[in-house]
Amino acid sequence: METKTALTFPTLDYWQRKIVAPGDEPFKEKRFYDYYRTKYEIALEIGPKRICEIGVRFGYSAFALICGAPSAQIFIGVDVLGGGYGGMRENTFPRVRKMLDREFPDVAIYLTHQDTRTIGSLPGSNLPFPPALDFIHVDGDHSEAGCLHDLMLAILAVLPGGTILVDDYTYIAGVTRAVDKFVVDCAAHIESHYCKKSLRGEYIIKKTGGSND
Ligand SMILES: C[S@@+](CC[C@H](N)C(=O)[O-])C[C@H]1O[C@@H](n2cnc3c(N)ncnc32)[C@H](O)[C@@H]1O
Repeated sequence: METKTALTFPTLDYWQRKIVAPGDEPFKEKRFYDYYRTKYEIALEIGPKRICEIGVRFGYSAFALICGAPSAQIFIGVDVLGGGYGGMRENTFPRVRKMLDREFPDVAIYLTHQDTRTIGSLPGSNLPFPPALDFIHVDGDHSEAGCLHDLMLAILAVLPGGTILVDDYTYIAGVTRAVDKFVVDCAAHIESHYCKKSLRGEYIIKKTGGSND
């Protein structure tokens, strides 16, 4: 079976020139570069194949996660138009797609505009093959209710043994409350959970169950 070697995380210079969107100057800072490198390291450790992200924005975490996942086959990104955090516009996803296609030509990239508050399951049923997701990054609606809803979508969608990564656990109070409530309410479906230190706190939740193959 063919195995690929993980890509190395790019240099700061490459990050600033090729990954950060034009005009998004704060994200060129070294602290953000290091923050996304932590996400890369998490993916490197877990080795996901089928990734979904709620809250794509300009594609930085998408880039970091796929970069650390040499076996990645598919990435499904969900975001809502006008959703804040710099504003997802009509021309945002085309730019994100161009960047991800250029960086990861072997990975199938699906980007869809959806407001996750209005859906009861993550998108994917219309895709060419069933997206048996083994890794879901939750970084969309940062209110307690919104994050909790996204966590429910994620635990329903992720395979047994799969991983949910939540952004901003130590940075946004609504996210902290949502995660703390979720791990209690859904304890029966959770094998392990912990916070990995980063600029904003990466909360890693592993669903109970078997292997990801
Ligand atoms: C913090 S940004 C994501 C940043 C991105 N993950 C990264 O690190 O590069 C949050 C994103 O969630 C999106 N969002 C907010 N509420 C949402 C909702 N209800 N449904 C879908 N996307 C949402 C926003 O449009 C925004 O692009």
